Amino acid sequence: MNAASDSPPPPPGSIVGVTPADLDLGARIILAGGLVAAPTETVYGLAADALDGRAVARIYAAKGRPEFNPLICHVASLAMANQLAQFSPLADELAARFWPGPLTLVLPRAATCPVSDLATAGLDTIALRMPKHPAIIGLIERVARPLAAPSANASEQLSPVTAQHVASSLGSRVNLILDGGRTTSGIESTIVALTESGAVMLRPGALARAEIEAVAGPLASPSHDSKVVAPGMLRRHYAPRARLRVNALESNAREAYLAFGDTPRGLVATLNLSPRGDLEEAAANLFAMLHELDSSHDAIAVAPIPNVGLGEGINDRLKRAGARHEESGV
Ligand code: TXA
Ligand code: MG
Repeated sequence: MNAASDSPPPPPGSIVGVTPADLDLGARIILAGGLVAAPTETVYGLAADALDGRAVARIYAAKGRPEFNPLICHVASLAMANQLAQFSPLADELAARFWPGPLTLVLPRAATCPVSDLATAGLDTIALRMPKHPAIIGLIERVARPLAAPSANASEQLSPVTAQHVASSLGSRVNLILDGGRTTSGIESTIVALTESGAVMLRPGALARAEIEAVAGPLASPSHDSKVVAPGMLRRHYAPRARLRVNALESNAREAYLAFGDTPRGLVATLNLSPRGDLEEAAANLFAMLHELDSSHDAIAVAPIPNVGLGEGINDRLKRAGARHEESGV
């Protein structure tokens, strides 16, 4: 397809690759206020110009997302990040150690931060991350502005790890989908808020707690610091359609069994998050396998996942994915 700047935009929902011409096209769409889904190392993001409130509103609308839920702003350089937030010495250290990568820092907004209030849902803090994927970095560099980007799925649905997941969840509500193949880490970034009283883990994710604590010291939990909450940490989230049961050591005839490591004696695994019991592999497979089982079964039983390292993030997602059914008692 000819991506010359005077050519008409492709129909909404079109999937292209991640060539320089594709990224040029994506940047033009974003600068015109549109939405572009792009791969990161965690999940696909639904990106818009973070400075353009109307474009940001289109993100919320496309996702059907509650407006109180703020978005992460993605940057391509420390210089860009420094225009948006106030960096403490600890923030500098964490950024130097883990960026680009799956760590989101919640920091005080800079006085002159130009990001739309809708993107930060009116908070005086801002969530920033520098992703480790050439496609989204190339997109940010071309736009030369931070990109607000939540996961590219309709609200409360599973996070997308392929371009096809984005297409089936959002369809023509996204202007363009950049297909960079399946994402590598498969669960979202770890979110840490830096407050006057210290560092708080708001969301476990693709970067293990121990790695962050080696730099920041022990991370507090949000309940110890009521001033910081991640509004997105609602109980019911990341929900598949199928009924989900966790810590299952057996399954009934109607359930798919999603195993981890060795399958319990007498059970046949429908799928296995990681036959060799590797938590990174399991995290990378989590959403893709839930998507697959969700389309073939009405109920899913998931094996116990050790709550260490990336297991903390996996268990968090599973707990939320199952919450819907516990609450409604079905
Ligand atoms: O890996 C990821 O983080 C992916 C990719 C696309 O980068 N993005 C992602 O975004 O997971 P999203 O919108 O699905 O989750 C953002 C989370 C929400 O739970 C939101 O409430 C929280 O970040 N958040 C954003 N800004 C915040 C702030 N200022 N204070 C506290 N929490 C914030
Ligand atoms: Mg999400």
